[in-house]
Amino acid sequence: MTKKQLNESVEYLKKKGFDTPEIGIVLGTGLGQLVEEIENSIEAHYNHIPYFPLATVEFHSGKLIYGTIGDKTVVVMQGRFHLYEGYDFLDITYPIRVMHQLGIKKLFVSNAAGAINLDYKKGDIMLIEDHINLQGGSPLAFKNVAEFGDRFVDMSEPYDLNMRNKIEAIAKKEGITLQKGVYASVVGPQLETKAEYRMLKILGADAVGMSTVPEVIVANHLRLPIMAVSVLTDECDPDNLLPVNIAEIIEIAGKTEPKMIKLFKELMKEI
Ligand code: HPA
Repeated sequence: MTKKQLNESVEYLKKKGFDTPEIGIVLGTGLGQLVEEIENSIEAHYNHIPYFPLATVEFHSGKLIYGTIGDKTVVVMQGRFHLYEGYDFLDITYPIRVMHQLGIKKLFVSNAAGAINLDYKKGDIMLIEDHINLQGGSPLAFKNVAEFGDRFVDMSEPYDLNMRNKIEAIAKKEGITLQKGVYASVVGPQLETKAEYRMLKILGADAVGMSTVPEVIVANHLRLPIMAVSVLTDECDPDNLLPVNIAEIIEIAGKTEPKMIKLFKELMKEI
C-alpha cells in the first residue's frame, strides 16, 4: 500500500460525487437492509475502484454507497473483505483508509457473531466494548507504516466511550435489549470446536466472529472514533453444540437487523 494508491482510490470516488461523507458504516454478513435507508445514493462497485482489493466471485455485489441518512452524509460498505476469503490484513483494511481519506469523522461497524456468553441469546445485539485479536497478525505490521501514522498504536479504549454511552441510552429509551461485551476475532472460515468455545469463554470473550478487529485497529491508527455492534446469530454452548447452520445465521442476522438500524439511525441524530 502506498499513499499514491490511496490518493487514486479517493480521487476516483470524489469524481463520482463521494463528497466528504461524515460517517462510514461497515455492514456485516446478512446485514444489508440499512442500504434501503440511504437517500440520494451514488454507488461504486469495489471492482471499479482503483487499488481496491479485487472482489471474489461470491462477493461480486460488494460496493461502496454514498448518500444521506437523515441529516448526515454517509459512506456505506455493503460487503466487507475477510481473511478467510484469502485476503491479507492490508486488503481488508484498505477501505477503512479510503473512507477516512474521503473525510469520515466517525465509523460504525457491524458483524454477525456467535454468543459465547450464554446469558446472551441469538437475536440480541451486543455493543462491543473491547476485543481480543486471535487472528494471528496485525494490519499495522507493514514496512512503511510510519508514513501512515504511529506504529505502536494505543488500544486502551478502542471503542469510543461517548458513542457507547449514547447508544446505550438510545437502546433503553427504545426498549431494545443491548448486551455489552468483548468480541474475539478468529480467522475462520471453519466454525469453532467445542474445545475452542470453552477456550474463548475462559479468555473472556462474550462473542466470536471472523471480522471487525482489523478494521478497528486501523481506525484507531487513524484516530477515528468507532462504534461497533455484533448481531448475535447463534449460541455457542460447548455442552450442547449443534452442527452449524449458516442459512439460520443469515436469517437471524436479517431478522435482527431492523433493531440495529434503529439504533444506528438514532445515534446518527445525536452525533
Ligand atoms: N463463530 C465464528 N463466527 C461466527 C459465529 C461463530 O459461532 N457465528 C457467526 N459468526
